[in-house]
Amino acid sequence: MCDSDAGVTFAHVQDVLERRCVVCHKPGAKIFGGVLLTSDVSYSNLVLAPSSCDPVIMRVQPGRPEQSMLWLKVADRACGCGRFRSMPPGTSGLLATPDDFCTIDTWIRSGALGN
Ligand code: HEC
Repeated sequence: MCDSDAGVTFAHVQDVLERRCVVCHKPGAKIFGGVLLTSDVSYSNLVLAPSSCDPVIMRVQPGRPEQSMLWLKVADRACGCGRFRSMPPGTSGLLATPDDFCTIDTWIRSGALGN
């Protein structure tokens, strides 16, 4: 589904997070998501950081989307983990917006680098 040679960087990922996620994943948000995704801390809160709802898996495991809670949530596959099965809550994750989904998918597959 996604073009794995798309040259995606973390800056592209952060752009998706700002547009779709930071409204809840920021300090003082009304429905606080438990993980801060503002640009100053998002990388360290995601990459090799244990998931709150299942600490056995990481929020992002570089190269392993299916082992990454971030990917499971945006792929609508986080069954039974946390209050919401998908992110943003109440949607089919980012699958309905393939460009945003593929930015995250490609970034994780290509090693989740910080650049
Ligand atoms: C309406 C508010 C809201 C929006 C928008 C939202 N989230 Fe969340 N998010 C939450 C809440 C509340 C939780 C904690 C409950 C849960 O895990 O289901 C959460 C949990 C998560 C988790 C799991 C954290 C863990 O350690 O288990 C991830 C990853 C996540 N969100 C990513 C995202 C991403 C990526 C987006 C944007 C595509 C997003 N969220 C949009 C409210 C939101």
